Amino acid sequence: MAIQTSTERGSWNSRLGFILAAAGSAVGLGNIWGFPTKVATEGGAAYLIIYLLCTFLIGFPVMVAELSIGRASRRNPVGAFRALSSNKFFPLVGLWGVICGVMILSFYSVIAGWAFGYAIEEIFYFLGWTQMADLLTDTGNGWKNALLAVIFMLATIKIITGGVSDGIEKATKTMMPLLIGIIVIMILYVLTQDGAMEGVREYLLPDFSRITTDLVFSAMGQAFFSLSLGMGALITYGSYLSKKENIPQVAAFVTLADVGIAFLAGLLIIPAMYVARSAGIEIFVGDQLASSTDLVFQILPALFHTIGGFVGVTLGVVFFLLLSIAALTSTISLLEVPVSYVIDEHQMERSKAAWLVGLGVTFISVIIAFQTSLIGSFSYIFSDLGLPIGGLLICLFIAFVWKKEEALNELEHGFPTIKQSLFAKVWPVFLYVICPAAIAYNIISNFL
Ligand code: TRP
Repeated sequence: MAIQTSTERGSWNSRLGFILAAAGSAVGLGNIWGFPTKVATEGGAAYLIIYLLCTFLIGFPVMVAELSIGRASRRNPVGAFRALSSNKFFPLVGLWGVICGVMILSFYSVIAGWAFGYAIEEIFYFLGWTQMADLLTDTGNGWKNALLAVIFMLATIKIITGGVSDGIEKATKTMMPLLIGIIVIMILYVLTQDGAMEGVREYLLPDFSRITTDLVFSAMGQAFFSLSLGMGALITYGSYLSKKENIPQVAAFVTLADVGIAFLAGLLIIPAMYVARSAGIEIFVGDQLASSTDLVFQILPALFHTIGGFVGVTLGVVFFLLLSIAALTSTISLLEVPVSYVIDEHQMERSKAAWLVGLGVTFISVIIAFQTSLIGSFSYIFSDLGLPIGGLLICLFIAFVWKKEEALNELEHGFPTIKQSLFAKVWPVFLYVICPAAIAYNIISNFL
């Protein structure tokens, strides 16, 4: 990503580069940690179905909206709303996005630190250094959490300061297929184990009576989080996008890649939970999960350890390293939003902006590292609530302020026949009615 220098605004090197960066932003801890945890705690297959509906019916239209606003304005989220209209309210929506980005990144980096810590833990475990290994699995250890989160933030800042085009593109290009490959191998292994079929049933056979307003609310938040929507990350990435690209098409690709990886992660983790249970590992207390925040981080190492030997450790290390890279391509997009805001709106030079904002976020991360119970409330406010509200306002912006004709004019670049297409008829209906109504309804019923 040849991001802008201080004097000129950069752009993606290639079509593939953009797709990879956007998919890299989408695929992350949300898919492999967040999604399976929520499936396990909130309703199994019923959750999966509602999540898929939210992704395709709400997430995808909002993704096209964000990318078109970004490409038309060539600005950060605050500047974008300012550039496209004289309305005074919407730049505040952009600012809310910037704030959500900062706050999400501050807890995300702690969990990303755990993932990285587990890659090292697998090696220590293999070598028989159990004390060191146990230290790394202790998600309640503040100093350890803080150290790993700081390392993670420094890596993110470093990448954002430079022209990272080649870095992100290359990392994502090799990471994604490898990650899918390892997950598939693990799924095949897990499915041969005792107890797995109970997990498969839980994951794939819906019990519709489990659908509650809480479940729908949580699935909607998860869809926004997983697709990186609602806070202007894709406005920012869209601002570097060439006019030659067909936005609905790249958005579809990114959505499918994201959903595909989340689906596979669920197919691995949910059966693995039941395998672990039938092997006597305590995952449930009664009917309740014993732990939710670090569920995935307990299940996976247990699995690698039962495989055991050189194969077990290799799979474990490679998996957690890939997960860390996936998290890094996501934290990059989270930090890029506040950084591009400071560059555009406060005329600061890129590397100075990256360090200033990045170290500010790191400070909050350290607090969360010691107080991990904050993760729940942060993700409720800034992700489950914050992102859908942002998405709702983005829809309303196109529908009533910028206007759909302008948006379609923008989308015409890269998709010349769009105005005669079905897309041009259906997408506005989603922006005017379906997305705003569904989001508002979910949020209100969650409060009631
Ligand atoms: N989508 C990423 C994940 O699933 C997290 C993420 C990256 C994100 N950028 C974002 C979430 C912007 C919301 C907004 O792990």
